[in-house]
Amino acid sequence: MKKIEHIGIAVSDIEKSNLIFSKIFGGNCYKSEVVESEGVLTSFFQIGENKIELVSSTNDRSAIHKYLQKNKEGIHHIAFAVEDIFSEMGRLKKEGIRLLNENPKRGADNKLICFLHPKDTNGVLIELCQEIK
Ligand code: CO
Repeated sequence: MKKIEHIGIAVSDIEKSNLIFSKIFGGNCYKSEVVESEGVLTSFFQIGENKIELVSSTNDRSAIHKYLQKNKEGIHHIAFAVEDIFSEMGRLKKEGIRLLNENPKRGADNKLICFLHPKDTNGVLIELCQEIK
């Protein structure tokens, strides 16, 4: 893994949260994007070299909707940039870490993504992401 790519925060009202985080970071999000396949609406903030992703649900089948029924809003996942998501997924599988999807999915911000099973990661939801070239 190369570095932390972003930290994901689950929010229920993204308009409201965009305002809160704009005040905190001293600037607006640089991108808002719907990921239809995941049923999520995201917005991205750049803070120096780091990124924060706000994630909300667009329908009640989305994983974020289910998450927010059981948990409060707040830090949801840590995403790590990888050079080759296929080889990283293979390496982790060999280590006995379950993946939430067998093949990489298309995520927000021009990335191929894969989530690791939180039961195999000490309860931390980890996302791998590889830039789509
Ligand atoms: Co993410």
